[in-house]
Amino acid sequence: MNMTTGNYIYTFKYDTHNEQLCKLESRQLFGHEEMNKRLFSDKKIDPSISPFIKNRFEIISSSGEYCDLLKIIKDKNICVDGFKAEYIVLEGDTTGYADRLDKLKDVGYCIEGDPDYDNPTIIYSVCFFQDTWYFGILEKHDTSWFKHKNKPFSFSSAINMDIAKALVSIVSKGNSNQRLLDAGCGVGTVMLEACISGFDIEGCDIHWKACVSTRKNLAHYNYSANVYRTDLKDHSTNYDAAIIDLPYNLFSHSDDDNALYIIESAAKIAKRLVVVSTSDIKELIQKSGLKLDDYCTVDKKGKKFSRNIWVCEKN
Ligand SMILES: C[S@@+](CC[C@H](N)C(=O)[O-])C[C@H]1O[C@@H](n2cnc3c(N)ncnc32)[C@H](O)[C@@H]1O
Repeated sequence: MNMTTGNYIYTFKYDTHNEQLCKLESRQLFGHEEMNKRLFSDKKIDPSISPFIKNRFEIISSSGEYCDLLKIIKDKNICVDGFKAEYIVLEGDTTGYADRLDKLKDVGYCIEGDPDYDNPTIIYSVCFFQDTWYFGILEKHDTSWFKHKNKPFSFSSAINMDIAKALVSIVSKGNSNQRLLDAGCGVGTVMLEACISGFDIEGCDIHWKACVSTRKNLAHYNYSANVYRTDLKDHSTNYDAAIIDLPYNLFSHSDDDNALYIIESAAKIAKRLVVVSTSDIKELIQKSGLKLDDYCTVDKKGKKFSRNIWVCEKN
């Protein structure tokens, strides 16, 4: 499928080891997979909610002829101070660097107002894909979540930040009004990513040290979210969705019974779950009465060890 319809063009950035996770995320957010790091969709998703979406290009106009596109832009009589123009290169676009700069100047001259390259109020953009020129408004990914890399408390069982961020967007389908639970929050890696995207999230962990570390990590970034020291089975608040990064080593005893116990406990209080495991838990998901909606494997960069991501819903 090579869809080129929709009000938005999304561009993606990811390393090979994250390709399957990015494709799972795009299936959950948009209903279809990105292809060659590009996707057309009518769905408006905040690019900063995903670790992989680089830009959202909102299409204002398009034309098969570049000159016609310029005329269309001019006819719009856009008058705005502090604008910036950026050229987005999509696959198959062979326009050279100098030509791209010239095109940015062309677009800039069609807009009235003083440009601001450092702190633009709005970014207009132009791109070319499959014989069509597009003009639109660009929303760029905000990289401020990278600061979580320096969180004061971490441990070897903590999940990577980019996986944590993807888990939040996957379980919520990009809807930041969802009420979430980080079930077995460890040091709160998932909670940090939910908080920066404005989710209402709570966390719980059976281990007191984990709760203290999570609370300190949250406080370090001035996020306020409740963290409960409790066995998941005794937690009775209801949520739209829960993220479970199953215990697999160190201070957590991990076996199938324990995994089933945790999944069943979470299913009692959340309608939708995303579960991370190091082993195949398809049968456990079936046993727990949940419907498996989607799945992928994420290889750990440079290592044999991989993680499985399971998206489940209540029947
Ligand atoms: C793999 S770690 C989670 C790591 C976390 N995602 C992070 O990045 O910091 C699993 C966590 O589940 C917690 N846990 C295990 N059994 C639990 C239970 N029954 N109820 C609540 N938490 C539990 C463990 O204490 C551990 O912190």
